[in-house]
Amino acid sequence: MLVGVARETVTGERRVALVPDAVARLQAVGLDVAVESGAGAGALFADAAYAAAGARVVDTATLYADSALLLGVHPPAGDRRDRLHAGQVLIGLLQPLADPVLVHDLVEAKVTGISLDGLPRTLSRAQSMDALTSQANVAGYKAALVAADTFGGFFPMLMTAAGTVRPATVLVVGAGVAGLQAIGTARRLGAMVTGYDVRDAARADVASMGAAFLDLGTTVSAAGGDGYARELTVDEMRSQRAAMTRAAATFDIVITTAQVPGRPPPLLIAADAVAAMEPGSVVVDLAAGPFGGNVDGSMPDTTVVTDHGVTIIGAGNLAASVPRAASSAYARNVAALLAYLVRDGELHLDPDDEITAGVLLTLDGEIVRPDLRAGRPEGGPA
Ligand code: NAI
Repeated sequence: MLVGVARETVTGERRVALVPDAVARLQAVGLDVAVESGAGAGALFADAAYAAAGARVVDTATLYADSALLLGVHPPAGDRRDRLHAGQVLIGLLQPLADPVLVHDLVEAKVTGISLDGLPRTLSRAQSMDALTSQANVAGYKAALVAADTFGGFFPMLMTAAGTVRPATVLVVGAGVAGLQAIGTARRLGAMVTGYDVRDAARADVASMGAAFLDLGTTVSAAGGDGYARELTVDEMRSQRAAMTRAAATFDIVITTAQVPGRPPPLLIAADAVAAMEPGSVVVDLAAGPFGGNVDGSMPDTTVVTDHGVTIIGAGNLAASVPRAASSAYARNVAALLAYLVRDGELHLDPDDEITAGVLLTLDGEIVRPDLRAGRPEGGPA
């Protein structure tokens, strides 16, 4: 069975779904590998490196025509999506709730869709396949670097002959995978770091990274199912936002990473919070995307400087800016999933298996995941 690695065409995307080092892992489970010419270029993996690893390098038409399994980070768009054909299997971070048309297109084309973002993440046997975690780790790391690069001061305390410079103060809002990595990276750069989350369990996680926990003085606590946060009620959100406005003004840097699965990201840093921050402060919003963000005024892939000198960076796809590490981690996740699903070169999809049921969106033109059959959750991303 031939696995094809597609070139990503989303603007600013530099990752690739498979790196040369991972080709042998797919071959070990009986798969042949083809790579679209130029697929690795954004991450500086040359066609020749894939060929040396044993993959065929092919053009776009051949890739889409011949691949039984098609690998990507994002789903193909436009005329590439039109090239998908019956019986083909598409594997990627397909994000069906963000792109409901995709599921319709897969059904029409009788394509089987497998999305890594549906993986049951708390299963220990699924952890090697967890692309949301691997990519969030990269994004959290880069968020701290972007903040440090933009901030006009030092992160660490510096003692010089001319005096002592105080360390930067950093607040990380949302202490999940990306937030904890941002905390760790900002601390390694020498900043004084504070973390905050609505899940009580996050207190221990923040402490384990050596950071302080921000006590907002509200009673908001919002652990939901599967270790995720639930969406706050309107009153909870209002009280959280008011307390956050008072707190944010005391930090040089605010990095936000808060997400609620299947819902638009919560707005945590309101315009008056940004207005209360000192000129020169920096806000990095990792949740900035097509359905909003955590920060009033943040826009995806855009940097804005307010009239009084606060920089707001909308950074929804930071993993793409560390393309070699992110692609290598993603390729390991994909290879682990394929090693799980493929036996003797054939794909085995058992909808009763917990991992398969989580990732399988459509099977031969039928919608499989119950939440997609029922339509998207009310009020969720349009
Ligand atoms: P996420 O990307 O969905 O959200 C990021 C963070 O935002 C979460 O910590 C969430 O609690 C927080 N958040 C949501 N609403 C908020 C609000 N209004 N105010 C402040 N913070 C808010 O979450 P992520 O990073 O994907 O992980 C969520 C949880 O799942 C974490 O506890 C993580 O450690 C856990 N997890 C467990 C895994 C495992 O057991 N293998 C694998 C991956 C994640």
